[in-house]
Amino acid sequence: MRLRPATFDDLALLRHWDEQAHVVASDPNDDWEWESELARDPDWREQLVAEVAGRAIGFVQIIDPAREESHYWGECPANLRAIDVWIGDEADLGRGYGTRIMELAIERCFAEPGVEAILIDPLESNLRARKFYERLGFRFVERRRFNEDDCAVYRLERRDWRLRGETILQTPRLRLRAWRDEDLAPFAAINADPEVARYLPSTLNRDESDAFAERIRARMDEDGFGFWAAERLDHPASPFIGFIGLSRPRFEADFTPCVEIGWRLDRAHWGIGLASEGAQALLHCALTELRLSEVVAFSAVENLASRRVMEKIGMQRDPAEDFDHPSLPPGHPLKRHVLYRKRR
Ligand SMILES: CC(C)(COP(=O)(O)OP(=O)(O)OC[C@H]1O[C@@H](n2cnc3c(N)ncnc32)[C@H](O)[C@@H]1OP(=O)(O)O)[C@@H](O)C(=O)NCCC(=O)NCCS
Repeated sequence: MRLRPATFDDLALLRHWDEQAHVVASDPNDDWEWESELARDPDWREQLVAEVAGRAIGFVQIIDPAREESHYWGECPANLRAIDVWIGDEADLGRGYGTRIMELAIERCFAEPGVEAILIDPLESNLRARKFYERLGFRFVERRRFNEDDCAVYRLERRDWRLRGETILQTPRLRLRAWRDEDLAPFAAINADPEVARYLPSTLNRDESDAFAERIRARMDEDGFGFWAAERLDHPASPFIGFIGLSRPRFEADFTPCVEIGWRLDRAHWGIGLASEGAQALLHCALTELRLSEVVAFSAVENLASRRVMEKIGMQRDPAEDFDHPSLPPGHPLKRHVLYRKRR
């Protein structure tokens, strides 16, 4: 599948698609004025034809609603895009093409760093299209009447799109990605290592490690973010070396609710800057793309390697905020913790 600019040569095809019953039903009252519109190329719009193996199957239009000439969307801030999309022939419906076209169009919109969200306006009665957009992560905003049409306005935030992907980010040596079942065995080996657990409550056996991974995945579903699996890109034999991620601590303390950044890596990969490399990129992403106003990190006072990572990625500690971790029993040697913060 690829998207290419629509040209005047597409006139007959677009007119033909415009007459198809499912296209008419989705947009009964608009005249796209193809003859004049295909002949011009304003900088607030892209009109694109989707092709599969060289065959044109659909159309997508991307506009900047703040600059679009007719002000169809009314007053709009400058950082949005709006998409219209359709599959041309009925025979090409229900084959996954629409999803793929939208993925390409969405990627194209968010490739511009300033773009914060994408709008769409299916007819309110078009439940099939509404489900389709919801599956892509669009959220319902409001009912709105555009000209003669009752529409349902939906919006896709950059952060919601970003968090859906298999890979959350990549650095020169690391990929942070969704968990796979194959990660469970190497994760259990990491959690069984007494050196890894030195500043954690205890080592974990295989069952405990699997249950922990299950909790991480469940929270990922619940929060949209979590402790992502870390994969080493410069070391093909290491598809999983631990986790680096973001999490909402579930215990209560002076600084909760909050989002923490945390890490746990296989000892074979310590001491070469990997935790710092991944955490630095993730912290930046959290404060910019994900628009968190603050991220915290904490560790047992004695965990100097972890504290060093916090410092290297630009987080700051106020000793007045040191705290006793509420999940550890009184008198536990690791109970005293340090807190680091980084604001946007
Ligand atoms: C914390 C952890 C992820 C660090 O991984 P890493 O890839 O080795 O980290 P980096 O190489 O990016 O940075 C570690 C820094 O700590 C320093 N360091 C390591 N051990 C140290 C120690 N005992 N005392 C002081 N500094 C230490 C390193 O020298 C390095 O700093 P530098 O680059 O200025 O030399 C890893 O040790 C780990 O998985 N530990 C077990 C799990 C854990 O404790 N997680 C944190 C819970 S809060």
